[in-house]
Amino acid sequence: MKNNFETLIINSLDTAAKSLQEGYPVAVPTETVYGLAADATNTQAVQRIYEVKGRPSHNPLIVHVESLQEALKWGEFNEAALLIAERVWNSPNFCAGVTLVVPLTLEASQRLSSFVTAGQNSIALRVPRHQLFKQLLSVVDFPLAAPSANRSNYVSPTSAEHVKNDLDGLIPYVLDGGQSHFGLESTIIDVRTETPIILRLGSSSYEDLQGMFTNIKLSTSEISGVVPGLSKKHYSPKAILNLNVLPQQSKNFYVGFGPVKCDVNLSERANLEEAAFNLYHTLRQLDEANVYEVDVHPIPQIGLGRAINDRLKRASV
Ligand code: TXA
Ligand code: MG
Repeated sequence: MKNNFETLIINSLDTAAKSLQEGYPVAVPTETVYGLAADATNTQAVQRIYEVKGRPSHNPLIVHVESLQEALKWGEFNEAALLIAERVWNSPNFCAGVTLVVPLTLEASQRLSSFVTAGQNSIALRVPRHQLFKQLLSVVDFPLAAPSANRSNYVSPTSAEHVKNDLDGLIPYVLDGGQSHFGLESTIIDVRTETPIILRLGSSSYEDLQGMFTNIKLSTSEISGVVPGLSKKHYSPKAILNLNVLPQQSKNFYVGFGPVKCDVNLSERANLEEAAFNLYHTLRQLDEANVYEVDVHPIPQIGLGRAINDRLKRASV
């Protein structure tokens, strides 16, 4: 499906907005990973996202809006959900990168393309923090549906160059907003019931969320089907990954964590935020270098380590 043009990395909000208004997807920076955005009210534009990604149409998209107020147009928030939304979306220093799943409003079911929600009666909403993405949302007068800007099942992009490598000739523009601050996708929380349930761990950790919402629960990844797109194989590089390998056991290219001898280190100072930031870039580098088999040092199963281990596990299938 590759077209006869080169995807341009741009800085112009106007150019990005114009393309979106004309119904063409644009890759956009967010604080988690880069997204492939399109007008959520335009079915043709949304279908182009699925086409470009090679994504199955039963896998719904996250809808990005400028503010909580705007989110209330598209999602029904009960009292508890509203409290969570206010805390995760309105407090600048707390729990960044959170997506909330709520029931659709009547307006959403009438105005949003049904391809966005894959025909479900719930919607995943996110108010991003990345300044450039926020500005873009304020320039266009529609919400932006956006999955991660990679081909389906491959590693999410954390820079404009990553997107260009994956989608060159498939989309007109990548809006450059620098390296993604977190480097992991958003944490998705289902807030439809009394007990909020984390469907996918990401840039907001379980421990941080628990500190705020004591009754929050973690859905076990074994409960398949809660997040339709979260298949066992996902975020997958070409290289074979062996997990939890100690330095003395390793016979392959070695990805370290902490002060160990290795070929590449996710974080020499054993810092989980830094490891999350480096994770996808490192997996991409392995593919670029055509590394065939890789051993990865154990990552502690706490804080962001849980999300890192989740991604590594899916990447190793
Ligand atoms: O950080 C992120 O979340 C990035 C940026 C671009 O926002 N987006 C992202 O989108 O990672 P994607 O499509 O790669 O992953 C979104 C996940 C999918 O697994 C999808 O199935 C799930 O969200 N999802 C979307 N709508 C849902 C819904 N109504 N209920 C449950 N899960 C939903
Ligand atoms: Mg994705």
